[in-house]
Amino acid sequence: MLFPSSIALAALSLASVSNGLNILMSNDDGFGSGNLRELYKILKADGHDVWIVAPATDQSGQGGRSDFSKLANLTAPSEFNLIPAGAPAIGPDPIDNQIWYYNGTPAACVFVGLDYVLPRYGSFKTPDLVVSGPNFGTNLGPFLYTLSGTMGATYAAVGRSIPGIAFSGSNPSVPYFNVTNATNQATWTAEVSAKVIKSFIDATPKGQAIFPLGYGANVNIPPLNASYTNPPIFKTRLTGNADTDLAAWNETTKTFHYANLEPQAAGINACINGDCNLPGETYVVEGGGVSVSIFTVDYDAPLNPYTTMVYNKLNGIATNATTPSRRKFKRSSVYTHP
Ligand SMILES: *[C@@H]1O[C@H](CO)[C@@H](O)[C@H](O)[C@H]1NC(C)=O
Ligand SMILES: *[C@@H]1O[C@H](CO)[C@@H](O)[C@H](O)[C@H]1NC(C)=O
Ligand SMILES: *[C@@H]1O[C@H](CO)[C@@H](O)[C@H](O)[C@H]1NC(C)=O
Ligand SMILES: *[C@@H]1O[C@H](CO)[C@@H](O)[C@H](O)[C@H]1NC(C)=O
Ligand SMILES: *[C@@H]1O[C@H](CO)[C@@H](O)[C@H](O)[C@H]1NC(C)=O
Ligand SMILES: *[C@@H]1O[C@H](CO)[C@@H](O)[C@H](O)[C@H]1NC(C)=O
Repeated sequence: MLFPSSIALAALSLASVSNGLNILMSNDDGFGSGNLRELYKILKADGHDVWIVAPATDQSGQGGRSDFSKLANLTAPSEFNLIPAGAPAIGPDPIDNQIWYYNGTPAACVFVGLDYVLPRYGSFKTPDLVVSGPNFGTNLGPFLYTLSGTMGATYAAVGRSIPGIAFSGSNPSVPYFNVTNATNQATWTAEVSAKVIKSFIDATPKGQAIFPLGYGANVNIPPLNASYTNPPIFKTRLTGNADTDLAAWNETTKTFHYANLEPQAAGINACINGDCNLPGETYVVEGGGVSVSIFTVDYDAPLNPYTTMVYNKLNGIATNATTPSRRKFKRSSVYTHP
């Protein structure tokens, strides 16, 4: 039987809204990114309440650095001239007040989102999920984990007890206003990202956090094209065929630039945590697959004979006590920030 289309639509939207999450998005490419805004649109259409707090300018390569603007105003226009010089260093997008720019690093944007934008202006205060990206370009392996601002925004959120997922695509930079149809790399990359998010959400009982405390995910997406929009998805690990850098010296310019170390370093590829049978994310994405690696922000070495051996080298100077006596100094006397 045929329903009047408005009733069918209402039923559909009710069904999706009931699963709706409160989501904070960020990235490192800036708040005008086509990838970011395509995923924002899809997540909203899927019934989630989505807010963006993202850098005013490209903040790639900042890792987890949390750098706040020293000035109340922008000294230069934001990316793509969306916001003029002299405007406040933080504010809403001119055409969408759920999208905010801030003149800081990606991790700083997440903190500003959690501690300023959402509490003061948001339709919710604490997100159920932080989504970063999709980045323009992949972030594969532990070296990029620490270097990438996409990752930095993600592990900043995980440290704040909020599940975080980083997405990185293989497409070149495109401003959101140049994405004018649904058959382009930014939209395909966002669609694959949304599919991964949906799987995590759909498999989580209502009211439960999608990840345990301290957990996050790193998702990388291969190059897509009109006949390759639905690549296979693999459970992966960060290590395994991962690259790290070397300092390459240029005799002409007398400067260094980075280059991938060949052959790949053993140190960055040692499988210490996680399932060593899973393929490395670098390998999977190079083969045209989507990688999904699960990480934790507990960077402690696992309890095993190697760790014990290393700790034992301190036996002459350190105690083994598992419950040390309280430190004798006040927290405020500890010098924690440069
Ligand atoms: C900074 O922005 C505020 C708000 O737009 C404006 O009133 C003020 O004049 C600006 N200051 C400078 C130095 O541009
Ligand atoms: C947006 O598209 C226009 C028209 O194709 C092009 O001239 C412009 O360079 C693009 N902008 C950016 C920032 O890529
Ligand atoms: C969609 O936009 C892209 C550029 O973003 C362009 O290359 C492509 O031809 C467009 N496709 C259609 C069907 O209009
Ligand atoms: C699309 O991507 C697939 C997978 O990488 C590749 O095999 C194919 O050649 C690409 N097609 C075009 C037209 O680029
Ligand atoms: C060194 O820099 C010069 C000038 O940018 C460039 O032309 C040359 O290709 C570089 N050499 C190497 C080995 O990268
Ligand atoms: C700490 O434990 C190691 C064995 O794990 C032992 O050899 C060592 O003597 C202990 N040190 C102290 C100070 O108790």
